[in-house]
Amino acid sequence: MCVLAIYPGSFDPITLGHLDVIERGCRLFDQVVVAVLRNPNKKPLFTVAERLEQIRISTLHLSNIEVDSFDGLTVNYARMRQAKILLRGLRVLSDFELELQMAHTNKTLSDQVETVFLATSTEYGFISSSLVKEIARFGGTVDHLVPSHVALDIYRCYAKIQPVSALIADSPGQDPTVTDRIGETPPDHET
Ligand code: PNS
Repeated sequence: MCVLAIYPGSFDPITLGHLDVIERGCRLFDQVVVAVLRNPNKKPLFTVAERLEQIRISTLHLSNIEVDSFDGLTVNYARMRQAKILLRGLRVLSDFELELQMAHTNKTLSDQVETVFLATSTEYGFISSSLVKEIARFGGTVDHLVPSHVALDIYRCYAKIQPVSALIADSPGQDPTVTDRIGETPPDHET
């Protein structure tokens, strides 16, 4: 029997922490589908197409992986793919509450799907996509947090929006919201 696991998320953008979960998931399961949620309620930094491409490039070294996007409920996508496992990473204790709530919610929606948590490797326990964006937005280096091609995408993206020095000069003491991208909705919870 081929065991297929779905690893759902926003991946805006993929981080080294996500990649760690993907690589370890690929060793545990026959096939891992990294599934990017198309979420109309969030204003992401990268489009779904850009995120899919970033994940594809980051996972070229893995053979039992697929990268896909989905709408709506994760359990419906899992059902459609005939997958019985949802894979999620756990970094710190504060993740646990929401992740457990999601796992319980998903269980009420489908008792066919089990959530499997992987403890993120200690060196990546502090990384989140929102943290990466915040650092880059204010001119910091993110090369140690995301795959190198993703770091370049992020730098390019923020440079296009407006150089950080210009933002500071334009609106001292204010949170810059100059374009759609920079005005992205801060997520409640982002891995
Ligand atoms: O990377 P993220 O943003 O932490 O991922 C969260 C995600 C996409 C896994 C979660 O928000 C989700 O499953 N959304 C789809 C809608 C859904 O199924 N909701 C019910 C379960 S909480």
